[in-house]
Amino acid sequence: MSNRMWGGRFASGPDAIMEEINASIGFDKRLYSQDIAGSIAHAEMLGAVDILSAEDKDAIISGLETVRDEIAQGKFTFSRALEDIHMNVESRLRDLIGDAAGRLHTARSRNDQVATDFKLYVRDAIDTLIAQIETLQRVLLEKAEAHAESVMPGFTHLQSAQPVTFGHHMLAYVEMLARDAGRLHDARARLNESPLGSAALAGTSFPIDRDMTARALGFDRPTANSLDAVSDRDFVLETLSAASICAMHLSRFAEELVIWSSAQFGFVTLSDKFSTGSSIMPQKRNPDAAELIRAKIGRIFGAFTSLLVVMKGLPLAYSKDMQEDKEVAFDALDNFSLCLAAMTGMAGDLSVNTDKMAAAAGAGFSTATDLADWLVRVANVPFREAHHITGRAVAAAEAKGCGLDALTIEDFKEIDERITSQVFKVLSVENSVKSRTSFGGTAPENVKAQVAAWRVRLAPQG
Ligand code: ARG
Repeated sequence: MSNRMWGGRFASGPDAIMEEINASIGFDKRLYSQDIAGSIAHAEMLGAVDILSAEDKDAIISGLETVRDEIAQGKFTFSRALEDIHMNVESRLRDLIGDAAGRLHTARSRNDQVATDFKLYVRDAIDTLIAQIETLQRVLLEKAEAHAESVMPGFTHLQSAQPVTFGHHMLAYVEMLARDAGRLHDARARLNESPLGSAALAGTSFPIDRDMTARALGFDRPTANSLDAVSDRDFVLETLSAASICAMHLSRFAEELVIWSSAQFGFVTLSDKFSTGSSIMPQKRNPDAAELIRAKIGRIFGAFTSLLVVMKGLPLAYSKDMQEDKEVAFDALDNFSLCLAAMTGMAGDLSVNTDKMAAAAGAGFSTATDLADWLVRVANVPFREAHHITGRAVAAAEAKGCGLDALTIEDFKEIDERITSQVFKVLSVENSVKSRTSFGGTAPENVKAQVAAWRVRLAPQG
């Protein structure tokens, strides 16, 4: 049997393999509520401009509502022979209301329909993701506030560099996440034009009102070029690109949690709820959630690359290649959302081992820069020379097997006469972080001020 929706010129139905490669219903059924919302808006508009009689319009809309309920309640039988969500819905509508159903597809095509459906879907996904990002930011702010004064080693090259506060470290992620949410907001704003009514590629000869459908679906305006509207998947790419950057941040954080929760570091302990044990080594607590976040991020980068590759060779306008946009995007957005939720749970639940962090903060001569800065500030030594003197102090401490703050004043005098016992004030880790009061620096007072500022920025609107 040829296809009921488009089979007029076909003598036979598709080969089984053709059906398998062609059908998208297995995954695009997820678009059902967007598809039906688009169809209802379209039918309302067709009624308003007298392309549909009031009677047909009402029958179509109430039939579509029934279809929506059937799908929502799991009572709908999807058919692969009907290819996709658009034709499954329309076919069921015909079962329910008869021939009037055939009038719904006036002045539109599956090409503008699918672009509209997917935009609505991605727009909802963006809204959910932004809310999730903000929830994670709030959790990190709590940690930052509680640990505004907790010292830890700051690293460059993963070598002890200068002491920082744990709160400052948490706020670094709050900043990253704010940029991530901003990119998603930008993508949403650019996405928000309605393709509906672009029809197959060239627009339509019917006197449709595209502003009306755009408004009904919460779009800011209709798209201005029908060719562009049906062949554009930038909105998916932009979202996946923004998601990829955010995912990269989550992965870096996950990596830090893996390192910090190791026995060697011991900076944090992940809660039982977010760790797993080993079936053979009873002592183990594994940071599986962090590892899986780090790993799953690959799918998001993969989806972005995959869709770029799908799109890069396509002439205008629609090509069936574009049907490949959905599965990768669904998988990426699902997993991204899961990673955000897992990171939020894990970060909220972890405990910070302040003693262990403080002990590590002083290791590796982390206050060497403070000594150099003191020489510049108090003894008026040029920084290059101060750097050299400090290098000798580090060598002396290394030779004695102690930290800089355990050198005696005699040790220091031998290195440079200008050093006085005043210097010991800056060699402690606590004083080091306290002194970093430049804007954006790690000093506890800065951290507290930033937390307060973020609380205002993240306060729920309205
Ligand atoms: N299932 C298709 C997709 O996801 C819908 C659009 C089909 N359009 C067409 N002319 N065959 O892209």
